[in-house]
Amino acid sequence: MAANRETIITIDGPSGGGKSTVSRMVAAELGYAYLDTGAMYRAVGLQAQRLGVDLADEKQVKAMLAELDLRLEPANGDTRVLLGGEDVSATIRSAEMGMVASAISALPLVRQKLTQLQQQIGARGRVVAEGRDMGTVVFPQARHKFFLDASPEERALRRVAQLREQGEEAAYEVILAQIIKRDHDDSTRAAAPLRPADDAVLVDSSRLNAREVTRFIMGSLQ
Ligand code: DC
Repeated sequence: MAANRETIITIDGPSGGGKSTVSRMVAAELGYAYLDTGAMYRAVGLQAQRLGVDLADEKQVKAMLAELDLRLEPANGDTRVLLGGEDVSATIRSAEMGMVASAISALPLVRQKLTQLQQQIGARGRVVAEGRDMGTVVFPQARHKFFLDASPEERALRRVAQLREQGEEAAYEVILAQIIKRDHDDSTRAAAPLRPADDAVLVDSSRLNAREVTRFIMGSLQ
């Protein structure tokens, strides 16, 4: 574990804080892998939805996780997510799948399984791990930890623009309400709640663009 602490960079924070863009940029500059753990929760959410799994039924959740065939592959600086061999990278990006992922991510069984997978992927180091609990639970040994935040209003604006780019029209008020609900749910859940690690550097990205945040992070790695 300790051998990889120098080359694991964790970037946590609420949705819409700019984590994905910044994580990709930092990974590209360093020539590290980019680990998108939100995509993993989204993929499990999609699987549960497809199978009609009752999230309140532990037996059903366990059975789904035992059969889970989830793989991540690097693809042009991004991540291709394969579920049972099917490329679901685009399907899991919708706003709806974000809400499903948030609900499923509260289940300790799901967190256990994905934490294990994430630690396997990060075992050799040279990785930028993005999520909610990278610095607190999954890679507590990492030497470089960042927590990116921005005001809910700013994050909602960014999210609407991002969805529009993907061809999905979304109303600002609806997205803002989703963000506020997701922040609340993610940070009050019992299992691995969203919070900065004690040794994380806090970055408020409300007035900084992705390039500026990346510069700041690169500068603090020395
Ligand atoms: O980053 P994202 O929007 O793709 O994440 C989707 C959901 O997954 C988010 O609401 C919370 C959950 N998540 C988590 O609980 N832990 C992580 N490490 C990453 C995501």
